[in-house]
Amino acid sequence: MNHTTVEVEQGGHRLLLDLSPAGERLVLNRFWLRDHCPSLPTKASGLRTFSVASLPENLHIKAAALDEANAHIVIVDWSDGHASRYELKSLAAVAQEATGQRTPLRSVRHLAGTEQPAIFDAAGLDYGTIAHHDLLDAIVRDGFVLVDGMEHEDASTERLAALLGRVRETDFGRFFDIVTEPEAWTLSQSTKGQDPHSDDPFRYTPSGISILHCREPASGGGGTSIIVDGFKVAEDLRREEPEHFELLCSVTIPYLRHRSTQVEQGEDVHMVAYAPVITRSGQDVVGLRFHERSTGVFDLDPAIVDAYYLAFRSFAVRVRSADYHYTRRLKAGEAVVFDNQRMLHGRTGYESDAAGRRHMRLCTVDRDQTHSRLRRLKEVHGLDGITQQRLHPGSAAY
Ligand SMILES: [Fe+2]
Repeated sequence: MNHTTVEVEQGGHRLLLDLSPAGERLVLNRFWLRDHCPSLPTKASGLRTFSVASLPENLHIKAAALDEANAHIVIVDWSDGHASRYELKSLAAVAQEATGQRTPLRSVRHLAGTEQPAIFDAAGLDYGTIAHHDLLDAIVRDGFVLVDGMEHEDASTERLAALLGRVRETDFGRFFDIVTEPEAWTLSQSTKGQDPHSDDPFRYTPSGISILHCREPASGGGGTSIIVDGFKVAEDLRREEPEHFELLCSVTIPYLRHRSTQVEQGEDVHMVAYAPVITRSGQDVVGLRFHERSTGVFDLDPAIVDAYYLAFRSFAVRVRSADYHYTRRLKAGEAVVFDNQRMLHGRTGYESDAAGRRHMRLCTVDRDQTHSRLRRLKEVHGLDGITQQRLHPGSAAY
C-alpha cells in the first residue's frame, strides 16, 4: 500500500514528499523542481532549449497531489499555468544528485616522496581494456604514473597519448622535443637543473595530462626527474599557514611568455594569463600554477605585497624541499604521465655530452578528455566511482 504524502510548503516555494515504503523524504525547491520537469529533455541529453529566464521570479506551486490513477506519479500545478507529472522513483534518483555532496571520479592518494607510483607496460595498454582504465584511474588517484617498454619511435609517444585523449596543438605544435641545444631558447634545452614547476601557466587553460617520454637519458649522468604533488604542498600550507594559503588562492598574478621571433620548435607569442597559484572550487583545491620563470611583474596592491611575497616564498621553499620529491632517472623507453595542474615536475642538472644528447619528448592532452575517457571506461566495464557530477581531483577531503 502506498503511504506517500505530498505537501506544499513556504507559500508554494517548496514541495515535501515522504516516500513510502522507503520512508525517504525529499525536500524540493520550486525552481529546482521545475528545472527537472519531465516535459523537458534530460540535462544529460544536451537537447534542452529551456531557460530559467522563461520562469517568473514569483513562480510557485499552486497545488500538488498524487495522480489518482497512478500513485507512483505526483502532479504539480504551477502558478504560470504549467503542469508537471513526476514519476516518484525517477524524482528520488535525480534528487540524490542534488545533495551538494559531489561524488569524486576517484579517491585521491598523496604518495609520500619515497612511495612508488603505479608502473604500466606500454605493450599491455590496449585501448578500451581494463588496463587502459587502470592507467587513467591511477593518474587521477596519484597524479602521475610511469609507463615503461615504450618503443624508440615517435609513434610510441603518440600511441600512449591516444589513450589519454587528443593531443593538444599549441604554438610549439603537437609534440615538443626537449633536446640539449647549444643555443637554448628555453631553460629545458640547457643542461641546467629546473626547480619543480607546472608547465605553461601563461595559457588561459594550462597544459593538462602531460607525457614526458624519455628517448635518451643524459649520457654523462644527471638529469634525474623530480615530481612533486602540488596539491599535497597546498594542503600542508592550508593546515600550517592558513593565511598564506588564502593569499595564494585569492590573489591573481600575471604569468607570461613572450617570444618576439619564431624559434625552431615554436611560434612568436605574447601570452599573459592572470590567475592565482592555487585554484579552489568551494573548499577543494582543484588546480595549481607554479612556475617562477613564467611569472610577469607582480602588480600587487602595496598593502599586501609583502604578505604575498612571504606566502609565495613559503610555497617555493616547500616545493624545493626534498621531503616532497619523488625522483627517478628515467631510462630510454620510460615515460612519466602526470596531471600538470596538480603535479609539479623538474630535473637535476646534467653534464653536456656531445656523443649522446638527452632527449625527452613532451605532449599534453586536456584534462577533460582524459577524465571523460575514464568515466566512459568505468561505464563500459561496470566499475564504481562514477556519477554525472563533475570531477574534483586532488581534494584531501574525500
Ligand atoms: Fe616543464
